[in-house]
Amino acid sequence: RLLIIDFGSQVTQLIARRLRELNVYCEIHPYQKVTDAFLTDFAPQAIIFSGGPDSVTREGSPRPPKSAFTLGVPILGICYGQQVMMQELGGLVESGHGTAEFGRAYVTPTERALPLLEGWFQDGREQVWMSHGDHVSRIAPGFEVYGTSPGAPFAITADPERHFYAVQFHPEVHHTPKGAKLYENFVRLAGFTGDWTMAGYREQAIEKIRERVGDKKVICGLSGGVDSSVAAVLIHEAIGDNLTCVFVDHGLLRKGEAEEVVTMFRDHYNMRLIAADESDLFLGALEGVSDPEVKRKTIGKLFIDVFQNYANQIEGAEFLAQGTLYPDVIESVSFSGGPSVTIKSHHNVGGLPEKMGLKLVEPLRELFKDEVRALGRELGLPEKFIGRHPFPGPGLAIRCPGEITREKLAILREADAVYIDQIRKHGLYDEIWQAFVAILPVRTVGVMGDGRTYDYACALRAVTSVDGMTADYYPFSHEFLGETATRIINEVKGINRVTYDITSKPPGTIEWE
Ligand code: XMP
Repeated sequence: RLLIIDFGSQVTQLIARRLRELNVYCEIHPYQKVTDAFLTDFAPQAIIFSGGPDSVTREGSPRPPKSAFTLGVPILGICYGQQVMMQELGGLVESGHGTAEFGRAYVTPTERALPLLEGWFQDGREQVWMSHGDHVSRIAPGFEVYGTSPGAPFAITADPERHFYAVQFHPEVHHTPKGAKLYENFVRLAGFTGDWTMAGYREQAIEKIRERVGDKKVICGLSGGVDSSVAAVLIHEAIGDNLTCVFVDHGLLRKGEAEEVVTMFRDHYNMRLIAADESDLFLGALEGVSDPEVKRKTIGKLFIDVFQNYANQIEGAEFLAQGTLYPDVIESVSFSGGPSVTIKSHHNVGGLPEKMGLKLVEPLRELFKDEVRALGRELGLPEKFIGRHPFPGPGLAIRCPGEITREKLAILREADAVYIDQIRKHGLYDEIWQAFVAILPVRTVGVMGDGRTYDYACALRAVTSVDGMTADYYPFSHEFLGETATRIINEVKGINRVTYDITSKPPGTIEWE
């Protein structure tokens, strides 16, 4: 496995993405944690030093442990990682002198060839993405220069004998188009064969779960989402009936969702499942509530109480399973500090294990979202289920601005079902990150047949996004929108007006509340 030492770059996670795409297993660890003892224990086959916001010229700035250089394994240093490598091995790094570079730059080769650069420089130069204030002004003994840019005379340096490579730019970002090739060459030079597959992961994960849990009982909260479902199926494969799943229906799910979960997990997978219809409780607590944050907090708190009650009924349970993913666990090296503003308080069950005295099993901790999907496929979960759009914990409550009533929820469910059906029929589902209907707290006048109607208006939402952090509205054709509006008005009693939300995020958010 490969070790990425994180010096705090915003894009360290992307390095891991690029390597996983090459079927190479890697882990990111913050520099503070990577001591000599850690390195011995981890026994990496290769190391990457990430970029970072600090300056190596500053006393006390982050350093890798000395033993990294004597392990005899290939090292690739990126940006700050290059500078720290030079500094530690006897070169010189300086600030200023007008050589800061931010954004696109072009690197040209020197006359020396380097296996790391195989397949590069096809037009005599290569576009890269730079982001550095400091620069290397003298390379370390044993190193040579293999590429230069106007602002970085030592853009690519290497000591091929020791397999130390150091670049000033960021090969992991999109704006370095050949970046993936560089990583591919690096891992090949380090002897990786790209054999890290999902089938292998499944076997390993099952072994690990058995080791951790033994013959003890495990509880898993099923939400109907991909992460908790994949975690549950995997754990079930490992320990069978010692796993009990708890699915709480808070009355804010989409049409047919609760039934689907029960059919799939109880009937198809034969799992022990407690399916609790607690809609009365939740909808009761939400009566008269229209403030979005109060809604979220009410649902979140109640969910924990309810879940805990059901979990307490499972005798002898010692573990709680969670579908935590890798991006949630990477200990990020934050230099900025300071509290960020709460836009929305997210619904999660993070505080549960301590409160309940349970130990955690998190079999997806090492995976990215798309890897979880791949694992789901490996485990035989249906494609339709694996490819599902994200759905928020508070469910339809936050798609129903203003007060929530059973009547509005029923209308919303129907409208949403028609909309999603339209999207699937037109083959657009997989192009869209998330699509849903929000029912608006206004009634408007319409005419149907010869009669006057006074019904709810709704808004269609569909966005594209890569991570939910930013998003753009999906450019449906007018034909599609027209057809969908007609279907909703004809098929859903209670709605007589359809609008399309074309706000991006930011300034909007994806959900309406
Ligand atoms: P926003 O509305 O903040 O949503 O742009 C970004 C993504 O997060 C989802 N979302 C949630 N997911 N619990 C969740 O598990 C929540 O409380 C929650 N609120 C929003 C939202 O659906 C979108 O995918």
